[in-house]
Amino acid sequence: MTIQKVAVIGCGQMGLGLVECAAIAGLDVVAVKLTASDLDKPRRSFLKSLERRVERGKMSGEERDAALARVQFTSELESLRDCEWVIESCVEELDAKGKVLARVETFLSDDAILTTNTSSLKLRDLARYLKNPARFLGLHFFNPVPAMKLVELSPIAETGDSVIKRCEVLCEQIGKTPVRIKDTPGYVVNRLLVPYLLHAIETLEHGTASAEAIDTAMKLGCGHPMGPLALADLIGLDVVFAMAKTMHSELRDSRYRAPSLLRRLVLAGHLGRKSNRGIYDYTDAKNPTVNAAISIDQAATG
Ligand code: 3HC
Repeated sequence: MTIQKVAVIGCGQMGLGLVECAAIAGLDVVAVKLTASDLDKPRRSFLKSLERRVERGKMSGEERDAALARVQFTSELESLRDCEWVIESCVEELDAKGKVLARVETFLSDDAILTTNTSSLKLRDLARYLKNPARFLGLHFFNPVPAMKLVELSPIAETGDSVIKRCEVLCEQIGKTPVRIKDTPGYVVNRLLVPYLLHAIETLEHGTASAEAIDTAMKLGCGHPMGPLALADLIGLDVVFAMAKTMHSELRDSRYRAPSLLRRLVLAGHLGRKSNRGIYDYTDAKNPTVNAAISIDQAATG
């Protein structure tokens, strides 16, 4: 049931997290970067993450080198021919993802499992791009991937039972706990989480409390590891906005309506940690402060 070789398509934040989990679990990994050709960038990020493990005493130098040697960074889909499991983790857009999945499928052996990491796209829409949907299912991993244990596993009507069972074992092989969920917008976690994040941003916009006060309140009042505004920045404000739009149009529920502050920040390119500014400003990474653009924006609109 277990495998030796996995492919991850896409070397963004989620993709690289998956590469790290698989390499540390002892799998050989083909990491495919489809856009541009600078393969050194994801390799450097991967190495940096491994170095942090070494610094924290979680991994030896030999283990780091072995994990590094197990990963092949490439932009060639030819390398997928002997992979037993593919996790596609590209941009969250139906047509772009569907086309990548269709191209990937042409390189796979008959018994390879094809999965997509998606948080809000409908799997049955993605499956329309495929010749063999019986080997296809959705996986939803969480950010930061190496630290979060959950994966929401969502088959479609055509997915074979043995594929589902095999995939559950594979998720466990890379250290994740799978929970099986119907192909529904947001699955379980985002269905509950997104209204919470949007409500926190709205609470900030209404001036009920400062960003720090909102985050401290939820951390200490509810025992959450981080507050909702810091979490929105970690996920990416563009991702939160995109999820809200998709879920609002799918579920027709006002709880998923994006507050205007979120829209304005995304339009201004303040996307959270990845762009150094979101709700908070991470220019001084150890001491984030509230993004000055928010108070200016609130003074102008309030
Ligand atoms: N990469 C690898 N490992 C990481 C990591 C990263 N980026 N960030 C944290 N970790 C690991 C650390 O190595 C550490 O591991 P250890 O216990 O084995 O030493 C552990 O996580 C705890 O890290 P720290 O001590 O540095 O920091 P914290 O205790 O503050 O934890 C956190 C950081 C894990 C991010 C924690 O704040 C947390 O759990 N936050 C909530 C994250 C969350 O809710 N994610 C879900 C988002 S929703 C989502 O992703 C869905 C999508 O569709 C939008």
